[in-house]
Amino acid sequence: MAKMAIFYGSTSGITASLATKIHEYFGEDLCDIYSMEEDFDGVEQMLEYDYLLFGCSTWGAGEVQNDWRDPLFDMSIEKPDFSGKTIALFGAGDYVTHGENFVSALGILYDHFQKLGATLVGEIPLDGYTYEYSFAVRNDKFVGLPIDEVNESDKTDERIANWLEVLKPHFPSTSLEAA
Ligand SMILES: Cc1cc2nc3c(=O)[nH]c(=O)nc-3n(C[C@H](O)[C@H](O)[C@H](O)COP(=O)(O)O)c2cc1C
Repeated sequence: MAKMAIFYGSTSGITASLATKIHEYFGEDLCDIYSMEEDFDGVEQMLEYDYLLFGCSTWGAGEVQNDWRDPLFDMSIEKPDFSGKTIALFGAGDYVTHGENFVSALGILYDHFQKLGATLVGEIPLDGYTYEYSFAVRNDKFVGLPIDEVNESDKTDERIANWLEVLKPHFPSTSLEAA
C-alpha cells in the first residue's frame, strides 16, 4: 500500500483537478487518491495512512463541499483517533464572488481533524491573496493551500509548487523527492 493518500471533494471539478496535479507530483506508487463522492467507504480508509492530503472546496456561505458533510458529521459522533497522522489541506474558492468566506472550508477541516488528534501541517503566508474574511486564517496564515481557479488560475501551478516545499519537512522525503 502507498504511504500516503489524497482524499478530495469537488462539485464542479476544480479541486479534483488540483488533487490530480498534486497526485502527479507524488506518483501512484507513493500516493493513493480517493474521490469523496465515488471512492470513500468510511473513515477506516483514511486511518490506513499516516500521511494524508485532504482537498475540499468551499460552498454555501463558507461551508465544506457536499461530499465532506456526512463524513465529517459521522466522525464528530464516532471520534476516530487521528493521533500520529500528519494532514495537510488544500481547496478551491473564489475570492471575488465569495471573498467574505474565502476558502473557509479549510478552517472547518482544520478544526475538525485537530480535535481528532491529527497534526496539521502545510500552513502558508497570506501574501499574494486578496479576500475580506476567511475562517481558514489562523495566526496570520492560511491553514492550508487556497487555490482560486476562477480568478487567478495563472497562479495555481506556482502556489502548488511553493506549498509542496512547505510540506517537505513533514511528509516522507521519498515522496517529495518526486516533486
Ligand atoms: C453557490 C456557491 C457558493 C460558494 N461559496 C463559496 C464560499 O463561501 N467561499 C469560497 O471561497 N468560494 C465559494 N464558492 C466558489 C467555489 O468554491 C469555487 O467555484 C470552486 O472553484 C469550486 O471548486 P470545486 O469544483 O472543487 O467544488 C461558491 C460557489 C458557488 C456557486
